[in-house]
Amino acid sequence: MTRNLFFGQDILSVDKLTIEHINLAVETAKHMRQVVEKDGACDELRGKVMTALFYEPSSRTYASFIAAMQRLGGGFIPLQGMVYSSVAKGENLPDTVRTFESYSDIIVIRHPEIGAARIAAQFSHKPVINAGDGVGEHPTQALLDILTIQDKFGKIDNLTVTLVGDLLNGRTVHSLSKLLSLYPNVKLNLVSPMILPLPRELVDLLKTRKVNVRELYSLEDAAGETDVLYMTRVQKERFTDLESYEKVKNHFIVNQDVLSLMKKDAIIMHPFPRVGEIDMEVDLDPRAVYIKGQMANGMFMRMALLYLILKKVI
Ligand code: NCD
Repeated sequence: MTRNLFFGQDILSVDKLTIEHINLAVETAKHMRQVVEKDGACDELRGKVMTALFYEPSSRTYASFIAAMQRLGGGFIPLQGMVYSSVAKGENLPDTVRTFESYSDIIVIRHPEIGAARIAAQFSHKPVINAGDGVGEHPTQALLDILTIQDKFGKIDNLTVTLVGDLLNGRTVHSLSKLLSLYPNVKLNLVSPMILPLPRELVDLLKTRKVNVRELYSLEDAAGETDVLYMTRVQKERFTDLESYEKVKNHFIVNQDVLSLMKKDAIIMHPFPRVGEIDMEVDLDPRAVYIKGQMANGMFMRMALLYLILKKVI
């Protein structure tokens, strides 16, 4: 019997995750992929209910959590935008959380404020999953990203990963860079506009963990040595001044020219939505895994996490 490290636990950030957690999540997600390919669904979580509490826009995270719960045979309370809930009448987060924990077994929350998932967890007796807290973290995205990299390379160690775009505000790269730092000999290229670097404390943490970190301002300089090219959009909603956004929004674009510099067996990833960082023609390149691999993996990884958190014996 495998030790279920996730049972009853919150997932608020990647900070408490170890290689053992990641391996368990990845193996379970691969199993879920087989279940879906073979039967479409199972009834492992019959009788369980998930609340999806989304205070910020979402397509993939929201839909994949809901599809994941459905394919596990569970139910869900879908709350997106919160305009039709009591939040629109001014209800505070603790009251909202205490309401929905009364009806469900797990709460998945996305919120514009950093630390909101942690506050939700303080008020909930049921496990809470952070589906993105402002410019903080997005742990389930990072886990599905690791699954996607492992699907291609069968490992993480010794890879050169290039993170590109809004590294300051992008929560996916905050979580992913920390997970990558758990593996030996990872080389990390950080490519961002000058005003959007990875937060300094995070760069320092990565260096303490012996990651070979390089900060660059040109995608072309990193493309040739990259195994995993991870593109992100500039997070418009985090800017107070739209003029600055306009200046940096189209800084880095993957097109045929960039493709021609890249290794034949590299992969290109993007958490999506893309708003111009990857030309549509790149979708046809076999190195593009953001739609077929990464997007689909979102549901498999979320199935795995819901199953592991809610099912004591696996
Ligand atoms: C990301 C997010 O919400 O942080 N989207 C996602 O969940 N796949 C990335 C983004 O919005 O740019």
